[in-house]
Amino acid sequence: MDPLKTLVDNQTRADPAWLPEELRRLYDGDLVFTRRTDRPTVVANFVSSLDGVVSLNIPGRSGGGEISGHDSGDRLIMGLLRTVADAVVVGAGTLHGDPGHVRISRYIAPELETLLSRWRQDRGLPSLPLNVIVSASGRVDLNEPTFHTPDLPTVIMTTLTGQQRLIRDHGQGVSATQVRVAGDEALLQPHDILNALHSEFGVQLLLHEGGPTLFGQFLKERLIDELFLTIAPQIVGRSRDTRRLGLVEGAALAPETNSWWGVLSEKAAGSYRYFRLVTP
Ligand SMILES: NC(=O)c1ccc[n+]([C@@H]2O[C@H](COP(=O)([O-])OP(=O)(O)OC[C@H]3O[C@@H](n4cnc5c(N)ncnc54)[C@H](OP(=O)(O)O)[C@@H]3O)[C@@H](O)[C@H]2O)c1
Repeated sequence: MDPLKTLVDNQTRADPAWLPEELRRLYDGDLVFTRRTDRPTVVANFVSSLDGVVSLNIPGRSGGGEISGHDSGDRLIMGLLRTVADAVVVGAGTLHGDPGHVRISRYIAPELETLLSRWRQDRGLPSLPLNVIVSASGRVDLNEPTFHTPDLPTVIMTTLTGQQRLIRDHGQGVSATQVRVAGDEALLQPHDILNALHSEFGVQLLLHEGGPTLFGQFLKERLIDELFLTIAPQIVGRSRDTRRLGLVEGAALAPETNSWWGVLSEKAAGSYRYFRLVTP
């Protein structure tokens, strides 16, 4: 795995080293987070094309890997974030849009697994972060490997209707995974998801891996603290027939409430750029 090169570093904190030396060498710096006390700190991670597309929306080729070209720098960042997070959340569209993908570090960066798993072990953390799937409808494919990975705790956050559907569709199969009803509206409120993860599961650092629909709802509520955004040097285009997804879907921010971000760091490897952005 090739190391990243830091181009811009606006981090002012001087914390003791958090990552071991080899990971700091690869990332060209450390990766420390401010933890909130009122709710989990929410850190999002996406890879986008130059023209802002995050999913080609072609069956079997809709995942982030098609956008990043399976870039090793992007995989390094995903591997690090999945390691330091207490939980990883995705919407049902992301679970189903990239079948077989399991949101754990060894899936994305297997060559770093010894280092990454030791990092969690040294801190007495569970071997894998809780995987959280958000679905209003309860239409969740429990055959996905996410639900059959040893030692991977999972929870489906859903509505009452969604819970009823899960029980109807899967019967006893649902008891193998956890299902939580968070709120009684048609869609879950991001605040309710965070409260449940904080109070019931003790989540302090939440990695938000999208997709664009779930991300848009968190963004609207100003519940994204940081965004790790890889810009892959490809242009993919869109057409009326090929509806490709942008970074945010289903939420249009008004000019008055637009979300402006500051650059905490910018790194590079070849023609790729890796931004760490924060809300002011
Ligand atoms: N390039 C990248 O970095 C990246 C990152 C993530 C995802 N992706 C890609 O993006 C595509 C998926 O996009 P998407 O926007 O459809 O994904 P998504 O946001 O993961 O999923 C949307 C679905 O999540 C559920 N959901 C979202 N918000 C909810 C809420 N507030 N309450 C309850 N349920 C909620 C709903 O499921 P139900 O319909 O079951 O109710 C909704 O249909 C996939 O192809 C994926 O690979 C790319």
